[in-house]
Amino acid sequence: MQRIYLDYAATTPAHPEVIKAMLPYFTDTFGNPSSIHSYGQEAKEAIEEARVNIANLISAHDDEVVFTSGGTEADNLALKGVAFANESRGNHIITSSIEHHAVLETCQFLERRGFNVTYLPVDGYGLVDPNDVKKIITSKTILISIMQANNEIGTMEPITEIGRIAREAEVYFHTDAVQTVGHIPVDVNELGVNLLSISAHKLYGPKGVGALYIKKGTKLSPIMHGGEQERRRRASTENVPGIVGFGRAVELAQQEISEEVPCLTHLRDRLIKNLLERIDHIRLNGHPIARLPNNVNISIDFVEGESMVLNLDLEGICVSTGSACSSSSLEPSHVLVAIGLPPEQAHASLRLTLGKWTSDGDVERVLEVLPRIVSRLRAMSPLLKNSR
Ligand SMILES: Cc1ncc(COP(=O)(O)O)c(C=O)c1O
Repeated sequence: MQRIYLDYAATTPAHPEVIKAMLPYFTDTFGNPSSIHSYGQEAKEAIEEARVNIANLISAHDDEVVFTSGGTEADNLALKGVAFANESRGNHIITSSIEHHAVLETCQFLERRGFNVTYLPVDGYGLVDPNDVKKIITSKTILISIMQANNEIGTMEPITEIGRIAREAEVYFHTDAVQTVGHIPVDVNELGVNLLSISAHKLYGPKGVGALYIKKGTKLSPIMHGGEQERRRRASTENVPGIVGFGRAVELAQQEISEEVPCLTHLRDRLIKNLLERIDHIRLNGHPIARLPNNVNISIDFVEGESMVLNLDLEGICVSTGSACSSSSLEPSHVLVAIGLPPEQAHASLRLTLGKWTSDGDVERVLEVLPRIVSRLRAMSPLLKNSR
């Protein structure tokens, strides 16, 4: 059976060109970039080339890009780095209730260290209101962290507006752009951010590598101490093959983004329209328009999300409930709860995320299989019987 992968927001397969670019850096060009001999210098050159590619993609300067072990570390470095370096200015941080756990758990850690964190609510689509941000800023506020797009429901936040507010108030602004960079055009100047997190494995690069954009002049403490790598902002020998793969993935994304966005948007809208038509008691989660081009998130009443995922898997279709990180937990997704879904609807959610290799045929197969699975599960469902 040919499998259909519709979980690109959890991770993407590495592009064959990415693997090809990485391979020599495991064997021939294996030097430590800190070594001054030719092996080391060749590795260093490759890292700097990748840094330029990443900077170009987001309209930054190359010395504003710091490599990390992924999106989680980039978020940690942004939040802890700004918090610890600016403690003397204030201890207030603003974020939203629908951030990724990499941001939320870091905020909770900082609260235990004496920082005050405001978790802003979102509306029914998952949107943060920029006026809420403006109203809550005090003289003690040092950082705002609002994600560019939500990984579960795909809603795109008004980052440019929040950026303007942050700039006027002279407060640092971080955005988690793990789900957007490489998928839609991202320009750090237009967004008005000081810090921006990226992860390679969400854009057809390897796992275990990411980057934090740090605007020149941003006061930030390192969270990893040791060597002098990354201009003393992140110690540890660089993951050279990973960084090379990341750089190549970004180069490919830059070439392909303008073609990919309309294709994915078309497939996404076809999937949403037909699912809403073919299945009753179904709702779309997230914003209908301000939405990632590849994200479909639905709640289907009277069926468990997990049962749908397992039944779809038996038919060769791989999707997820909520986000991959929370899918092993019995708690309903914090994002779906924040947009106002009752626990039953939050548990009845399904996330289908499309990517580079999703075809019309894949969408057609989901439209054929999912309504059938829903009917079968509903026929056995105590949830449906109890509601009658
Ligand atoms: C919005 C968001 N932020 C951060 C992360 C963490 O990235 P990584 O897996 O590279 O640590 C993810 C991954 O799911 C994500 O979707």
